[in-house]
Amino acid sequence: MKLLTRTLTLCLALALTNAAPSLLPEVAAEVAALPDRCAGIEFDAITLDEQGKFLFFKDNHLWKGFHGPAQPSNESFKELHGLGHVDAAFRMHSAENPDDHDHIYFLVDEKVVRFYNQSLEDGYPKEMTEEFPGVPTHLDAAVECPKGECMTDSVLFFKGHDVHVYDIATKTVKTKTWSHLPQCTSVLHWAEHYYCFHGHNFTRFHPVSGEVSGNYPKDARNYFMKCPNFGHGSDYKVPKCSEVKLDAITTDDTGKTYFFAGSTYMRLDTIRDGLHGFPITRSWKELSNGVDAVFSYNDRIYFMKDDNVFIYKGGAHYTLVEGYPKSLKDELGIDGHVDAAFVCANEHTVHIIQGGTMRDVDLTATPRTITREAPLPSALSDIDAALCGQDGVKVFKGSQFYLYGSPMILVTGRIIVAPQSITSAMMGCQD
Ligand SMILES: *[C@@H]1O[C@H](CO)[C@@H](O)[C@H](O)[C@H]1NC(C)=O
Ligand SMILES: *[C@@H]1O[C@H](CO)[C@@H](O)[C@H](O)[C@H]1NC(C)=O
Ligand SMILES: *[C@@H]1O[C@H](CO)[C@@H](O)[C@H](O)[C@H]1NC(C)=O
Repeated sequence: MKLLTRTLTLCLALALTNAAPSLLPEVAAEVAALPDRCAGIEFDAITLDEQGKFLFFKDNHLWKGFHGPAQPSNESFKELHGLGHVDAAFRMHSAENPDDHDHIYFLVDEKVVRFYNQSLEDGYPKEMTEEFPGVPTHLDAAVECPKGECMTDSVLFFKGHDVHVYDIATKTVKTKTWSHLPQCTSVLHWAEHYYCFHGHNFTRFHPVSGEVSGNYPKDARNYFMKCPNFGHGSDYKVPKCSEVKLDAITTDDTGKTYFFAGSTYMRLDTIRDGLHGFPITRSWKELSNGVDAVFSYNDRIYFMKDDNVFIYKGGAHYTLVEGYPKSLKDELGIDGHVDAAFVCANEHTVHIIQGGTMRDVDLTATPRTITREAPLPSALSDIDAALCGQDGVKVFKGSQFYLYGSPMILVTGRIIVAPQSITSAMMGCQD
């Protein structure tokens, strides 16, 4: 198969350039020289760029994203030419320093080079000792660690089993030794998790304690790239926008927006990490059968599935509140099934949509009682999900949504609202 693809590429290249047959060995050498990450590669460096695209480096080659062949790294980062390989790469996280924040740093021997928008920045390369005083040179890996995940905005520099934690504000370094962790040749920070890559495997670790929990190492080819005969059946395929169908959507109290579809969820506020689907059980392990509706209230996320309500505490990781799931009747005073639910900011009422009816439940009353029940406009039968945000209430139905100024405007139905289409900018789908 691979040979066939290469032959085809070659034919195509020749056809396009109308090259003389004498070029054949040269073109062939170039095509054959491309490394294949599915063969099991140890990467030199892995990072996300400022647009949330994955970059994998090996010698003077680069892969962008999870699909596709290697390309010479100097096609994207011209000035990396001649440096041979990079030791480490990371995307700076330093919200207080907008001139540095999201810039891409490459560490090469004793030097630092910095890019933004794929252009080398003025003043680089610099010496490591100048840019990161107290940090050793000839590193194995480096990764940014924002405040909240680390104690302060920091960069972790890896060399052997030592980790040099560089505090960006104070420019001080603390060194730890994590001998239990494999020697990382590249480290990636992605969606609040930290991955040490070693060989073609990776191990997830905690950025403060270095602790590894779960079954590691895992083969990177199953998770971080698309390879024939690798990956899992549950792979999330990016749907066409015209085929999107949500089950539920919510924004939690910290501003994270999640949508749920089947057994997958996606975070929508992390465009700069790229939009990726994950199994719902990755974050809410008891929700193994998907969800019908979800809303956020008082630092809790309420999931509804069939006749049950699951309440999770917020924070860095979600934990199921003791005693849950409970029945919808006990928790909210209603009978299942729920199509959609939402709470607007600074309100204590959950608006619950069941068929063509919206029921309001006062979340401060015990026991919970329905305070209002109203029919929805007839165009809104069979809705999938609803979200209340700054711009109003979005009601989702298939690949379209309706925007209403408020829950009141929604139920009075006096204003005819035209449906709008879900776009890739909203949901990460394919236009
Ligand atoms: C990239 O590097 C190769 C040599 O490794 C060189 O032939 C090529 O011209 C360079 N490309 C660019 C865009 O700089
Ligand atoms: C990025 O660089 C390209 C050309 O290299 C330029 O056209 C574009 O405006 C730049 N974007 C930003 C945000 O600076
Ligand atoms: C990768 O991990 C597997 C276990 O999952 C292990 O058997 C194998 O030796 C590891 N290979 C490398 C190169 O680290």
